[in-house]
Amino acid sequence: MTGAAMSAATESLAAGPSASVRRVAVIGGGTMGNGIAQVFATSGLDVELVDVKPEFVEKALGTVAKNLERVAKKQNWPAEQAPAILARIHGGTSFAAVSGCGVVVEAVSEDFAIKRKVFEELDRVAPAPAILATNTSSLSITEIAGITKRPAQVIGMHFMNPVPVMPLVEIIRGLATSDATYALTEDLTRRLGKTPVEVHDAPGFVSNRILMPMINEAAFTLMEGVASREAIDAVMKLGMNHPMGPLALADLIGLDTCLSIMEVLHRGFGDSKYRPCPLLRKRVAAGHLGRKSGRGFYEYPAS
Ligand code: NAI
Repeated sequence: MTGAAMSAATESLAAGPSASVRRVAVIGGGTMGNGIAQVFATSGLDVELVDVKPEFVEKALGTVAKNLERVAKKQNWPAEQAPAILARIHGGTSFAAVSGCGVVVEAVSEDFAIKRKVFEELDRVAPAPAILATNTSSLSITEIAGITKRPAQVIGMHFMNPVPVMPLVEIIRGLATSDATYALTEDLTRRLGKTPVEVHDAPGFVSNRILMPMINEAAFTLMEGVASREAIDAVMKLGMNHPMGPLALADLIGLDTCLSIMEVLHRGFGDSKYRPCPLLRKRVAAGHLGRKSGRGFYEYPAS
């Protein structure tokens, strides 16, 4: 999309329930957070990106800069467009940045204890009308909402990886999520040029309830020596028309995130069919987390 077409699209859609939202915060600038910040800024919103250490913030901003450069080249953007988008993202380590934001999207590690601390703090510092959205892959929206004093304004906004590329956002209602919160979140998603799909709160929602057991089964298949990693991925790519094999996809998602999701499914449904594969556990214990650590099921030498 050209710059003019993009801002026209943004303006024409900004008449809906999210029209008053001009500034958003993204908490956590990792695999997902930097992509989420990028799509908000590309749609013309100001973004506060918060992570725990300045070097994590710098890394996230560097990733966005690199990705924008790539898109600019591919789509032939005018020279000033990518720097203008990047300038809309303000990075920092203080949650005080949230105080001027109408919507906050939490994208910290998939660990309830960490999310609890983050939501306690967000509830304290975010403006009273602000919506607190979580990008969790599997944790209960109802439980996360229960951490706050504003459960009606808490919702799941589950972006897909890589965020700038994937059109879907699963929007998950917790038990107390209000219709107004849902309507605003859905409208905001459309402003990003993405397609919202409404889902109710259940372990793994729809996406990861279906995807993650497949990845887990691929890990079992590898562990049992049924086939090599390349062969497993080739079967799913060439035989099932998947754009990526499940083991390469696990590396893209992060093996720690995959393991956390399987644990949530296992605990949530109490069904042994969701037990995490021991090989997945072993790799996570060894720090082989996938692309983000340079090694997972495959190796990723630093470029
Ligand atoms: P990640 O491990 O790449 O990044 C997490 C980031 O959160 C790190 O930069 C970390 O420093 C930061 N963080 C941790 N504690 C923090 C705190 N207290 N305050 C601020 N920042 C903090 O994780 P990833 O993959 O980006 O996942 C984030 C969330 O998105 C998780 O809930 C995950 O389940 C979900 N998700 C992940 C997908 C994936 O493919 N990786 C896809 C969709 C959702």
